[in-house]
Amino acid sequence: MPDLEDFNVILKDIWAKKWITNNGSYHKELEKALCDYLKVPFISLFTNGTLPLITALQALRITGEVITTPYSFVATTHALWWNGIKPVFVDIDPNTGNLDPNKIEAAITPQTTAIMPVHVYGRPCRTKEIQNIADKYGLRVIYDAAHAFGVEEEGKSILNEGDLSTLSFHATKVFNTVEGGALIMHDEKTKQRIDYLKNFGFANEVEVVAPGINSKMDEIRSAYGLLNLKKVDLAIEARHQVAIRYRQTLRDVKGIDFWDDVPGVRHNYSYFPIFVNEEEYGMTRDELYFKLKEHNIFGRRYFYPLISTFSTYRGLDSSNRNNLPNAHRLAESVICLPMHHALDQNDINRVLDVIIR
Ligand SMILES: Cc1ncc(COP(=O)(O)O)c(C=O)c1O
Repeated sequence: MPDLEDFNVILKDIWAKKWITNNGSYHKELEKALCDYLKVPFISLFTNGTLPLITALQALRITGEVITTPYSFVATTHALWWNGIKPVFVDIDPNTGNLDPNKIEAAITPQTTAIMPVHVYGRPCRTKEIQNIADKYGLRVIYDAAHAFGVEEEGKSILNEGDLSTLSFHATKVFNTVEGGALIMHDEKTKQRIDYLKNFGFANEVEVVAPGINSKMDEIRSAYGLLNLKKVDLAIEARHQVAIRYRQTLRDVKGIDFWDDVPGVRHNYSYFPIFVNEEEYGMTRDELYFKLKEHNIFGRRYFYPLISTFSTYRGLDSSNRNNLPNAHRLAESVICLPMHHALDQNDINRVLDVIIR
């Protein structure tokens, strides 16, 4: 959270201006500051990270079937359902948790119009391979980049990949505006259309050009975001140090796997997933998860259960367990350890002591 005194100064300004939503000055300032920080050409702010997904599908007029991953937060697939689109689940690469490009082509049908991958935990998808497939079959690519704030590959933002990318600024994210999100696009025309769509489709006072939604970020959250943006590099570096300490100790623990940083990638350390190998570790994932809980340590089983197992989606052919072996394996072994910029050495030791035993 931003410093309360700094926030109060801005609140006084907003109270004086009495412009509290609908593209006010803080909203404009945050869009500009985020374009600079994220190295992206255009951005449109939203009230959360789910409505940009729903709106992206509307903006590109996606219909029919969309290829996506079951190993994500449920909002990814819900966005398809809300648009009347059939999700087609494809298995993940077990080394990254992301959609496996080698398995995408086999799932394409004449009804397929797009691919919706997720940069899970902020680890970049194999974007070149995905784009090659999309180009070959004439498909759109919308990245759910909810976890990928500030992530770069070889100095370039991964948010510029595909046709559109979405972000979440939910309170749990590395950059937060309490609730919030954004859509990132390549050109001004698309931004204009998306700005209409997030404001009911209004192009001006009297024209509604599409069945839009209301998802405008207000001035108070925009201002909160501007203050948090100033601290985000420090937060990412502090999380990096937490990851280093977790890795130092866990490298020697048999049956606990984790991923190292990818060379050339600027990570944001949003999450620290570990994977429990029951036989080698001598305890199941759930036994460790509940043991941590007994010690008041709240890991998260992200992403368990898989989206494909929820009642809305489990009847789909692509939800068959045999189609998604890697996703099931990861979902059944993962625990995301506590990760926050304010974790100190004592907190980290408390977590590690329970895992080491
Ligand atoms: C991968 C992914 N997509 C979408 C969302 C939805 O974002 P929000 O909670 O801001 O609506 C989340 C959220 O937490 C997420 O993890």
